Amino acid sequence: MSKGNVYIETFGCQMNIADTERANSRLRAAGYEISGEAETADVILFNTCSVRARAEQKVFNRIGEIKKSLGASVEPVIGIMGCVAQLEGETLFGGGAGVRIVAGTRATDRLPDLIERALDGEKQVLDLGERLEDEQWDVPVVGRISPYVAYIPIIEGCNKFCTYCIVPFSRGREQSRPASEIIDEIKKLGDAGYQEVQLIGQNVNSYRPKTEAGLEGFSGATPFSRLLRAAAATKMSRIKFTTSFPRDFHADIVSAMDEHENLCDWVHLPVQSGSDRILRAMRRGYKASDYLSRIDTIKNARRRYALTSDIIVGFPGEMAEDFEATLRLVEYCRFDAIYIFKYSQRPGTPAAGLDNNVSDNEVMARFLALEQLQKGIQKKIYADYVGRDVSVLVERKSAKSEMDMSGHTTCNKVVNFSGGEDLKGQVVSVRVNEAKVNSLYGEVVC
Ligand code: SAH
Ligand code: SF4
Ligand code: F3S
Repeated sequence: MSKGNVYIETFGCQMNIADTERANSRLRAAGYEISGEAETADVILFNTCSVRARAEQKVFNRIGEIKKSLGASVEPVIGIMGCVAQLEGETLFGGGAGVRIVAGTRATDRLPDLIERALDGEKQVLDLGERLEDEQWDVPVVGRISPYVAYIPIIEGCNKFCTYCIVPFSRGREQSRPASEIIDEIKKLGDAGYQEVQLIGQNVNSYRPKTEAGLEGFSGATPFSRLLRAAAATKMSRIKFTTSFPRDFHADIVSAMDEHENLCDWVHLPVQSGSDRILRAMRRGYKASDYLSRIDTIKNARRRYALTSDIIVGFPGEMAEDFEATLRLVEYCRFDAIYIFKYSQRPGTPAAGLDNNVSDNEVMARFLALEQLQKGIQKKIYADYVGRDVSVLVERKSAKSEMDMSGHTTCNKVVNFSGGEDLKGQVVSVRVNEAKVNSLYGEVVC
C-alpha cells in the first residue's frame, strides 16, 4: 500500500533537478507515490533556489498560489527543501506559509523518514545535516524527469567563495563523486536508450575524486579531463558538461574535446566581469587576460565550440569604466549566448557589506546595453547556421507552434522544426533555414 502521494516542485539550477530526481527515487523505494500535480498530493515539497533575492521570493509566492487553489478544506503537508531550506533553517516554520518540513541540500536521502514523521503528526521536522559517507548518488533510470537528457552530478558544493555568492553556504564544500560510479551510470543510461548526458556541478572542472578508480588507463592533465576521456569511451552519443570555472579550465579539457566527437561542442564558462578591479572584488581568482587566454585556447581548437557565459552587472563599486571593460570582453569573446544578472545582495556574503553605489537606473541601463551588444553578436552567430545541417535531439513539442517539435543541438542551441511527436527521443539532422536571436528553425533532412 502506498504511504502517500508526494509532489515536488523544482526551482533553480540543474543540481536541484538532479536532487529532485534523487528524492523521487528514494521516496518511491520507500513506498511513496510521486504525484505529477499538487492537487492530489498529501505532501508538497518545494526544492528551492536562493542565488538571487528574486529566486527566493518565487517560492513563497508559489506556496501562496497553491494553497489558494487547493482551498481551505485540503491541507497537505508542506515542506521546503534545497538552498533556501539550508540557509533559512527553522525560521521557515515561523512564516505564515504553514511549512512543516525543512530539509537542507544534503537531506534528500533522508526525506522518506522526514515525511513519515510529518505525516505521523510532528509539527516541525528539520534536517540540515550532511550526506552520509556511504550514500549512493545513483538515480535509477525510471523516474528521471527527462526521458531524453540525463543530468549526472559529478561534484557538489563549492569552495570558491566568490564574494557575492550564496552557493558555498547553501551547498557546503566540494565533494566529488567516484569516477567509477559516474561511468557506470553513463553506461546504464546508454543501455536504457539515453542519447545525451550532462555532467553537472557548480564547478565541474574542479572535479577531484578521492581515488582514481574508474579513471585507470585514461590520460589527462587533470582528474576532470581524465573523466571526460573515460566518459567519451562509454560511447554515449552526446556528453555535455556544465558549469566550468575559469581558473580551473585546463587546456587539456579542450584537447579531450578535440579528440572525441561525443564530447559536445559547447563550453559554458562564466566570466562575471571584464574588469580586473571587479574580478578582484568578486574574488574570482583570475584576471580578464587569464580568462581571454582560455577563450583563445577554445577558439584555436580543432573544432568550433559554442561558448556561453554568465555576467553580473552592478556589482558594488562597478564604475562606468569597469562596465566598459565588460563590454569590450564580450565583444572580443563573441559568445553564442550570455546570461546577464543584476547583482543581488545575498545576506551573509562578504559583498553584502560593501557600499552599493550603483543606482537601480544605472544597473538597468548597463543590463540593457550589454543585452543590446550581445544581441547584435548573437544574431550574426545564429545567422551563420542558415543552410547548415545540425544534429538535434528531439525533446518536446515547440512552445510556439503545435505543429513543430523542438530540441537542442550538440552546441546546445534550441532548434524548432516541423515534425510529429513520434520523433521524440530521436537524434535527427535538421537543415536550418531561419535564425532568430535565441533559436534556429529548419526542416528534418534525415
Ligand atoms: N559556479 C558557477 C556559477 C553558479 S551560480 C561559476 O562560478 O561560474 C550561476 C550564476 O548566478 C553565476 O554565474 C552568477 O552570474 C549568478 N549569480 C550568483 N550569485 C549572484 C548574485 N548574488 N547576484 C547576481 N547574480 C548572481
Ligand atoms: Fe558561486 Fe563562485 Fe562558487 Fe560559482 S564559483 S558557485 S559563483 S562561489
Ligand atoms: Fe540556486 Fe542553489 Fe542552484 S542557490 S542556482 S539552486 S545551487
